[in-house]
Amino acid sequence: TTALRVALAGLGTVGGGVIRVLEANRDLIARRAGRPIEIVAVSARDRTKDRGVDISGFEWVDDTTALARCDADVVVELVGGADGPALALARATLAGGKGFVTANKAMLAYHGLELAEAAEAAKVPLKFEAAVAGGIPVIKGLREGAAANAIERVYGILNGTCNFILSKMEAEGRDFADVLAEAQALGYAEADPSFDIDGVDAAHKLSILSSVAFGTRPAFGDAAISGIRHVTAADIAEAAALGYRIRLVGMAEAGAGGLFQRVHAHLVSNGHPLAHVTGSTNAVVADGNFVGRLLFQGAGAGDGPTASAVVADLIDIARGEYGPPYAMPVAALTEASAAPAGDR
Ligand code: NAP
Ligand code: HSE
Repeated sequence: TTALRVALAGLGTVGGGVIRVLEANRDLIARRAGRPIEIVAVSARDRTKDRGVDISGFEWVDDTTALARCDADVVVELVGGADGPALALARATLAGGKGFVTANKAMLAYHGLELAEAAEAAKVPLKFEAAVAGGIPVIKGLREGAAANAIERVYGILNGTCNFILSKMEAEGRDFADVLAEAQALGYAEADPSFDIDGVDAAHKLSILSSVAFGTRPAFGDAAISGIRHVTAADIAEAAALGYRIRLVGMAEAGAGGLFQRVHAHLVSNGHPLAHVTGSTNAVVADGNFVGRLLFQGAGAGDGPTASAVVADLIDIARGEYGPPYAMPVAALTEASAAPAGDR
């Protein structure tokens, strides 16, 4: 059988994780995919960096964008950034007729529609399970498992770094900056952690999730966004005394005024499942009109969980099982007209 040949851009937290998952679970992945999945070429900034993984068996490509032209079937982008080399690679890969897998929610929030159109035009897969809620198969769950339902509302904890910070401040009385440094050391935070703590990363994910859940064109620009920068230990203690916990929640609802997307720190009652989501765990709740309430929960960040989602996309591609990037083909997506400003 012919292997699925993979070119990998980015060898940091997630890229390193992908190499480890493909190596450790090589045989079971080949059995499940029906054929082996092999990395053939890699690219990052620094060829000499010790990454704790052996990359000597892969071709090294200096110019990351040139991975689009190497002898591979699929390119995996784990560099990050909404524009720059990630976007150049995405465009070149899809234009060249290769499949593309990414964990880059910032790029998808801004350019996801263009990339989906390019993928459909080239009849190649564009997959991004890892871009939303790390290891949780929520894109698959909504796009495939819940495909028979109209989704009324989708909401949840979409940023592992913020949840880690809030739950450590709450349980251990620790300082915001100290816990943020730990989240960075554990590989949870974005290269610029203000994306995490200001709610922007959660909003990137929410815009992708909304498109999958509601069949709307992604509309990141319509989201109302705030973060957790100003949450203090005193706020957390006061909320606890009243029977609440503070969580950064992203919420999207389809209503008469169009799609309503917002991200902000919420008081979550102790009786609600989201109050018990701690550490870098994420959770997504979706209300479907026939299935009822679905709750997806699991690791939202970190090398192993995120790589697990990236490799799941590769397995789908190896099997030849992939549909449109969102809930339906791009041409069938409806406009997500903004909710009236007064409602925000
Ligand atoms: P990271 O640890 O910072 O790794 C980034 C990699 O990209 C590094 O190998 C770096 O090269 C390479 N790189 C950076 N700038 C480059 C450039 N201009 N040209 C070529 N290569 C470049 O980041 P990460 O945490 O793995 O995140 C990667 C992507 O996954 C991002 O889109 C992120 O949002 C997303 N993501 C991350 C997580 C997570 O838990 N970390 C979860 C879900 C999604 P060097 O190593 O040589 O410096
Ligand atoms: N920085 C992100 C987070 C990584 O903390 O959730 C996972 O997307």
